[in-house]
Amino acid sequence: MEVVIVDRPGDGAALVAGAIAALVALRDAPVLGLATGGTPQPVYDRLADDCSAGRLSLAGASAFLLDEYVGLPAGHPASYRQVIEREVVARTDLRSEAVHAPDVAGEERELPAACARYDDAIDAAGGVDLQLLGVGSDGHIGFNEPGSSLGSRTRLKTLTARTRADNARFFDGDPEAVPHHVVTQGIGTILAARHLVLLAWGDGKAEIVARLVEGPVSASVPASALQLHHHVTVIVDEPAASRLE
Ligand code: F6R
Repeated sequence: MEVVIVDRPGDGAALVAGAIAALVALRDAPVLGLATGGTPQPVYDRLADDCSAGRLSLAGASAFLLDEYVGLPAGHPASYRQVIEREVVARTDLRSEAVHAPDVAGEERELPAACARYDDAIDAAGGVDLQLLGVGSDGHIGFNEPGSSLGSRTRLKTLTARTRADNARFFDGDPEAVPHHVVTQGIGTILAARHLVLLAWGDGKAEIVARLVEGPVSASVPASALQLHHHVTVIVDEPAASRLE
């Protein structure tokens, strides 16, 4: 695991944009794994700038989202599909048809089959080349909350009260408006990507960054499973790095 400490999130975003540009130059049909939440925003801003300036094209790329809320009305602005449409598709040349999100539209009983189809679609695309990740204050990656199996695949999960409180800022500050359920790639699904890039900014993430990088691998800190992967880059700013030994 490589840990890179940057002065500002924008510097980390430039590193990620550079890695994506290198991938695009190397592969005809690169596959990106996209996260949502606040953390990847500087990366999406940078990708937008690079595409507008003609320094980067994502026209040949495809993307798989890490997770999606269950139960939001279609087109809800906080749905992760909508976030990626707004922050990436509308501002770069990544094609909307090339962006895949977990299918949460059916009845609950149809979700297991839809989840299996999502894992199959990732495999059929050749697997994810570069997976962006944030980390929850409780150590979740994707929405694999503490206790999630380290070998899990895409499936339905229930959010903890802490994660719903953390994400209330995307729902007008109302934790009750945050759905209870999500479909998320499993930890096993995430670990199948060829390169994992986890980002964290600010002192609110300092403790969990130290636990995921230096603590024991444990299902109680799902992000610690990254220690099992052969190609991981953790990019943090100084405040998020402040508890590292
Ligand atoms: C989002 C996701 C989550 C977030 C995590 C951190 O697609 O999978 O794991 O990365 O909740 O969220 P922020 O970045 O808002 O602190």
